[in-house]
Amino acid sequence: MAKSSAKSRIVFLCRECGSTHPKWAGRCPDCGGWDSLERFREPESSEHETSLLASDETEDAGGATRDRGARPIAEVEVEGVARLATGVPELDRVLGGGVVPGSAILLGGDPGVGKSTLLLQALSEIAATGRTVLYASSEESAAQVRLRAERLGRAGSPGLLVLAEGALPRILEQVRRHRPAVVVVDSIQMVHRPDLPAAPGSATQLRRCGHDLVSLAKRTESVVVVVGHVTKDGQLAGPKLLEHLVDVVLSFEGDRHHAHRVIRATKNRFGSTAEVGLLEMGARGLAEPAGGTLAIESGAGSRPGSVLFPLVAGSRGLLAEIQALTASAIPGAARRRASGLEANRLAVAIAILEKHGGLRLADRDVFAAATGGLKISEPASDLAMVLAIAGAHYGRAIGAGIAAFGEVGLTGEVRAVTNAGLRVAEAIRRGASRVIVPAAQKDLAGLDGAIDRVATLGEAIERLDVLTGSERGSRRRAGTPG
Ligand code: TYD
Ligand code: MG
Repeated sequence: MAKSSAKSRIVFLCRECGSTHPKWAGRCPDCGGWDSLERFREPESSEHETSLLASDETEDAGGATRDRGARPIAEVEVEGVARLATGVPELDRVLGGGVVPGSAILLGGDPGVGKSTLLLQALSEIAATGRTVLYASSEESAAQVRLRAERLGRAGSPGLLVLAEGALPRILEQVRRHRPAVVVVDSIQMVHRPDLPAAPGSATQLRRCGHDLVSLAKRTESVVVVVGHVTKDGQLAGPKLLEHLVDVVLSFEGDRHHAHRVIRATKNRFGSTAEVGLLEMGARGLAEPAGGTLAIESGAGSRPGSVLFPLVAGSRGLLAEIQALTASAIPGAARRRASGLEANRLAVAIAILEKHGGLRLADRDVFAAATGGLKISEPASDLAMVLAIAGAHYGRAIGAGIAAFGEVGLTGEVRAVTNAGLRVAEAIRRGASRVIVPAAQKDLAGLDGAIDRVATLGEAIERLDVLTGSERGSRRRAGTPG
C-alpha cells in the first residue's frame, strides 16, 4: 500500500447523502441533514492508486487483463448477459431473472427487516447448485450465522463459506482464494480498512470500502452484494452514499412487527425497476405469502375506511388494501397524513371529496395508508382512496371483497386508467368478488359479471353500504358525518 505523499485534497463528505463540499457546515447544503458532514481525504490522483486491489492487477486473470483501450464500437464484443438465479423467486423477479456476474448490488433496509435472512437463503440456494459462495459477516459470529442457517434448514451445504470478519483486506484475500460466485458483505457499515484513520461506519470508510468491493466485483466476475442498514439516528453513514457506485440498489421494506416484506429495485442497470417482490417472514425464513395476496384474509372492505385496490407492479397484478381514518381535528390545524400513498394525491382527494362528494373535512384529521408495506403512487388508486375516506367519514363499508380502481378528476369524474383488464382479472383471481371501475373504461370485454361501472365520484359514494335516505339527503346538503 503506497503511503500518501503528495498533498491530498480535504473535502467534507455528507454521511447521509454522499455529497461532498469544500467547507464544513453544521447542515448539509444538499440534503439538509444536521451535523452530517465528515472530513474526508480524497485519495490523490485516482482512487485506483490507493485501492487495496491495485497491487494484484495481474494476479487477477480474466477481469484485469481485459483491454481497456478505446476502440471502434463495432469491435466491442457483446456477451449475452448470463444471469445467475438466486433461487429465491421473488428476489429473482426484482433482479430481472437473477444476478449478473461482475455486478455489485446494494441491499438497504431497516435493522431487523430480514436482510441477513434473505441473503443467507439466496446464498444457500446458489450453493445447492454446486457453486461456491461466501457470506462475510462483519456483525455476527460464524456460529450465529450457522444457527440462522440451521433455523432456515440450510446448514448442510459444503459450498456455503462463512467468514466472520470486519477487516476489508481479509475479506478480499478470502475472495481471491476461494473465487466465490457470490460474496455477501453483511454489513458494509461494519467493514473497515485498517489503513484509513477513520472509524468503521464513518462516511470515509463506507465510501472507500464500497469502492474497493465494487472494483473487486468488476475484476473477479464475482457478484458482490453489500448490505447497508438504513438508520435514522445518523450513527452510521447511510447506504445512500454507495448508490452511485453499485449497479443495482435493492430496498427491503416492511414493518418489523408484521410478517409482510416488500423488495424493490430503486436502481437496476440490468433490468426494470417496476417489479416488486413479496415475501413473508415465517418461522423458517422468508417465503412467498400464501396465495400471493396481501389483503383479502384481513377482511378488507368489510370495515368502514377499508377498500381493496388492484394495483399493477411491473408485470404482475396485486391486491392492496387502502385504509383511511378521519377524526375531529384541532380547529385550524387539521392533519393530513399519507403512508404508502402520495401526500399530494391525498390532498387533492380531500379537496375533490369536499367539492364534489359533499363531505366536510376542513375540521377533520384525515389519515390514509396502503397496508402491507406497499408504496402506491398510481393515479388509478384515487377511487379506492376517496372511497376509503368517505367510508371512514360516514362509518360505512364498501363490502367485503369489493375492490375499486380509477383516476378521479378534479371535476369529480371517474376516469379510465391503464391495465384495466389485468386489474380486474387479478383482483378476481386473488379473491375479490366485484370491482368498481370507471364507466368509460374500455378493454373489459367478458368481465361484465365482475364489474360495476361508475362515472362520477358521487355515484361511487352511493356504493358505500346502505346509506339511509335521510343520511343521503343530509350528506348532499351539508356533508355532515353519518
Ligand atoms: P435479520 O435477517 O437478522 O434482519 P436484518 O439483517 O435486516 O437486521 O432478521 C430479522 C428478524 O427476523 C429477527 O427478528 C428474527 C426474524 N426471523 C424470523 O422470524 N424467522 C426466521 O426464520 C429468521 C431467520 C429470522
Ligand atoms: Mg443482519
